[in-house]
Amino acid sequence: MSQKKEPTGPDLRTGIPLKEIPEGGSLIGHAGEDEVLLIRSGGAVFAVSPHCTHYHGPLSEGLVGGGSVRCPWHHACFDLRTGEALRAPAIDPISCWNVELNDGVVVVKDKRPLSKAARRRADNREPDKIVIVGGGAAGFAAAEMLRRKGFQKNVLMISGDPALPYDRPNLSKDYLAGAIPFKFVPLRDDEFYKTNNIETRVGVSALRLNAHSREIFLSDGGKVAYDSLLLATGAEPIHLDIPGADQPYVHVLRSLADCEAIISDAKVARRVVVIGASFIGLEVAAALRQRKLEVHVVAPDKVPMARILGQELGLFVRSLHEENGVVFHLEDKATSIGDRMVRLENGGSVEADLVVVGIGVRPRLELAEKAGIVLDHGIAVDQYLETTVSHVYAAGDIARWPDPHSGQSIRVEHWVVAERQGQTAAINMMGHKEQFNAVPFFWSQHYDVPINYVGHAESWDKIEVDGDPMKKDCLVRYLRNGRVAAVASIYRDLDSLKAEVAMESTKTS
Ligand SMILES: Cc1cc2nc3c(=O)[nH]c(=O)nc-3n(C[C@H](O)[C@H](O)[C@H](O)COP(=O)(O)OP(=O)(O)OC[C@H]3O[C@@H](n4cnc5c(N)ncnc54)[C@H](O)[C@@H]3O)c2cc1C
Ligand code: FES
Repeated sequence: MSQKKEPTGPDLRTGIPLKEIPEGGSLIGHAGEDEVLLIRSGGAVFAVSPHCTHYHGPLSEGLVGGGSVRCPWHHACFDLRTGEALRAPAIDPISCWNVELNDGVVVVKDKRPLSKAARRRADNREPDKIVIVGGGAAGFAAAEMLRRKGFQKNVLMISGDPALPYDRPNLSKDYLAGAIPFKFVPLRDDEFYKTNNIETRVGVSALRLNAHSREIFLSDGGKVAYDSLLLATGAEPIHLDIPGADQPYVHVLRSLADCEAIISDAKVARRVVVIGASFIGLEVAAALRQRKLEVHVVAPDKVPMARILGQELGLFVRSLHEENGVVFHLEDKATSIGDRMVRLENGGSVEADLVVVGIGVRPRLELAEKAGIVLDHGIAVDQYLETTVSHVYAAGDIARWPDPHSGQSIRVEHWVVAERQGQTAAINMMGHKEQFNAVPFFWSQHYDVPINYVGHAESWDKIEVDGDPMKKDCLVRYLRNGRVAAVASIYRDLDSLKAEVAMESTKTS
């Protein structure tokens, strides 16, 4: 028999004294069976759901300010008045309750209806048809935002992937580890696209773009016309070019189909060799250790991830994986794969009945390149995410944008950035002029240890470490030209959020 959950904290419907919540502070109680987070900020008291709608992060541990609360886990942000998810990775709003203040007592009243898509008339200045090429992070977030903002006209999303948009980061984490069921993988069910009148064509690729006639030619022989177009074609894994790399038990990991193929082999495999100590490679190593496989990692690096995270965090990552039973073959390379054996440059070999290659990705630029759109190691876009061809926007892994914080044109491969760019592009395709100025953020998860990273530092002059990575408690600052270009952290979520806020106000261009 399932046990009834005890309500958390005080009953907020009977009220609590205002003085029990300090300015800028919060308190968790309940209203009936619902947990409710009271937040006192800017002279007002807000009552909202305490759980982030992304992965249920605890908003009570987040950062409050400017009428919003930021989630400590992956930096989503919610409007405290409406509950709207202002920043990805959360897409759904949080619940809000009406609050009354009577004689210094805060009383939580009715739950308000969830924040919904804006209702408005179709605007004649808006394009009649918006086409999105790509059904990943950026493509999905763009389609959702168009409808959230009340765009009334046609939206078509074309995706080469046969599956509707899904949670790609989970493919190297909990889903690969077998820790969550498939139902958590799709970003939305089929019904969402029907209800929101988002036409989808999955398993169909855009082969050619004619930017003059504003037409796209598809792999199924069809062609579609657009008024505004979003390119969100993402990146594809680099394949290993060594003898034997084409065997069926050698995999890359980008799509859901790739992930299912790895899971299917992992169910009967005993030993896996992961080639590449990238984020994806090492997340795969962690996930497959959770499936009790013997895991070997082969990589040319001296210290895994040191190029991105620096020596200190790199050494921690290595020791974390070693503690969990991963065997590293560093400063070495795979030279051939054959007879269930990976041969190494230094003369050794490792048996493997499953090989996963994680040696980086390449942005998918062919469509843009052939259409004459200017490239710059990615698709060059302006601050509104428009390419050099008018009415054609680009977002996500393919886009190189002028980052006002670093003063550089940058391209990153982060889930949250892709979603936020998709959202900004959507708003601009509707005819607005919103600059993309989010500070880049990514996270990575290895066993129970999350690593959060805000900002952008391809190189640095100096690293400052607060705390101790080996104790899984640290904040690492990457300084360039005397300013903090990026911050990585382990279990220092509030500091990471504060660093994000500080970077948002820093502009070098
Ligand atoms: C396994 C894995 C785990 C990850 N984990 C993290 C993480 O923890 N944190 C993080 O910040 N980032 C993570 N990333 C990176 C993140 O997923 C990407 O940065 C993000 O998905 C980029 O979004 P996108 O929309 O640009 O591209 P994608 O999500 O790759 O979507 C591109 C879409 O375009 C489609 N497409 C491509 N070409 C065409 C065409 N010609 N016609 C039609 N459709 C086309 C593809 O099929 C795909 O659906 C991970 C990536 C992988 C693969
Ligand atoms: S759980 Fe809140 S942003 Fe991920």
